[in-house]
Amino acid sequence: MRVLVTADYRTLSQTAAELVIKAVRAKADLTLGLPTGSTPLGMYEELVTTYRHQHLDFSQLRTFNLDEYLGLSQDHPKSYHTYMRLHFFEYVNVSTANIHIPDGSPGIDVDAESARYETAIQQAGGIDLLIVGIGANGHIAFNEPGSAFESRTRAVDLAPETIANARQHFRTEAVPLRAITMGIGTILEARRILLLAAGASKAGAVERALRGPVSQSVPASALQLHPHVIAILDEAASR
Ligand code: GLP
Repeated sequence: MRVLVTADYRTLSQTAAELVIKAVRAKADLTLGLPTGSTPLGMYEELVTTYRHQHLDFSQLRTFNLDEYLGLSQDHPKSYHTYMRLHFFEYVNVSTANIHIPDGSPGIDVDAESARYETAIQQAGGIDLLIVGIGANGHIAFNEPGSAFESRTRAVDLAPETIANARQHFRTEAVPLRAITMGIGTILEARRILLLAAGASKAGAVERALRGPVSQSVPASALQLHPHVIAILDEAASR
């Protein structure tokens, strides 16, 4: 694993965006795995700026998001569908037909949706470049501690600390207790992976993921098994 320690969050975001831009310029129909959360917001801003000022073309790009809350309609203000629209898709020319996000809408048959999602990834030829954040408890996407490294897209229960963290974001609204997420096995099949982590609150998880033993108790430690991972950290997350 290559580890890039950047001076600050802005540089982390620029570094991640540059790697994505390079990959899109090299392969217009790149298949890109996309995260949500606060960490990638700066990267999305950089990508939108480059799209506007340097004529970056996303028209052939295919995207697969990592996860979605279960029980939220796609247009729910706190859904990851909405997040992606507001922070990226609304501003760039990614074709709607090429956007894939697991559907966590109320009443969805989650096993069928999970199988459909895995098939869609296969039919796209697999994921070329996947970007992932990390939870303070070491989770990747919504694969909480204890998740099998062979796991595929499926419904999961969120860990108490993940629910507590989401509470700040949901405020007065009910916090989802479950999600649909790519599995660790799905993530590890991506050809290249970028791990982004910013801030002191992530330093412990980063240390365990990058330098601790490979263990199901730290889902992100599975990334040590992958041959092409670049971890992009800011200084606070690297200490
Ligand atoms: C959620 C997402 C993860 C993300 C994590 C960290 O749990 N499902 O994909 O990595 O939050 O989020 P943040 O970047 O806001 O710290």
